[in-house]
Amino acid sequence: MGRGIVIAIDGVVSAGKSTTARLLASQLGYRHLDTGAMYRALTLAALRAQVAPVADAALEALLSRLRIDLEPDGRVLLDGEDVSEAIRQPEISRAVGAYADLPLVRRAMVGQQQRLGAAGSVVAEGRDMASAVFPQAELKIRLVADLEERARRRFSELRTKGLAISLEQVGADIRRRDQQDLERDYGASSPTGVLEVDTTTLSIEEQVAHLAALARQAGA
Ligand code: DC
Repeated sequence: MGRGIVIAIDGVVSAGKSTTARLLASQLGYRHLDTGAMYRALTLAALRAQVAPVADAALEALLSRLRIDLEPDGRVLLDGEDVSEAIRQPEISRAVGAYADLPLVRRAMVGQQQRLGAAGSVVAEGRDMASAVFPQAELKIRLVADLEERARRRFSELRTKGLAISLEQVGADIRRRDQQDLERDYGASSPTGVLEVDTTTLSIEEQVAHLAALARQAGA
C-alpha cells in the first residue's frame, strides 16, 4: 500500500471541525492531528510553569523542552502525562489565544505538525492547516455553516453538559470569536484549491460521508 494522503481541515468557529476530523480519520484508518490540542497542551505547560505569553527566553526554553504526544486513541500527553481533560478546562480556553498568537509559538508548533504529517495518512485539523502548515495537502477543506445553526449546535452541546447558558449568549460568543479570527493572520497566503463545504443543513454523519467521498476522489 502506498503512502496515504494529507487532508487539511480548516473552518469557522463551531463548524464541527473536531468531530468531523476525528470521525473521518477513524473511517479512513488515518491519524487525527488535532492541532488545537497541541496549542492547549503548550498553554497548560506554560501556566503550570508560570511562563507568560511573551516572546522571551523562558517561553523559548519551555518550547524547546516540551514534549506533546497525540496518541492514536485521542489522548493528549504532556511529557508523558495524560492531560486530555485538563486542556479542555475553561481556564485553558481563555488563555490559549495569547500563546497561539505569538509567532515564536506558531513556528515551533507548525514545525512539529509538519513533521507529524510528513508520513501522510493524516487528517490535520486547525485554522491554519491549508494556509501555513500543509499548503501542499492533497485535500484542503474549509467547513462553514450559518451562525444561527452553529449557535444551536453549540447550545445543545453545552446543555447536554449541564451548563446554564442562553442561545443568545452562545450566538454572541460565536460572533465575537468569528470576529477575532478575521482579525488574526494565521498564514502567509490565501491557499489555492480549498474546497468550501457548507454544513448548515448536514448531519454529522452526512458531513463525514461527504468528506470521505472527497477524500477517496483525492486518492485516500
Ligand atoms: O480548536 P481548539 O479550540 O482546540 O483550539 C484551541 C486554540 O488554539 C484556539 O484559540 C485556536 C488556536 N489554534 C490555532 O491558533 N491554530 C491551530 N492550528 C489550532 C488552534
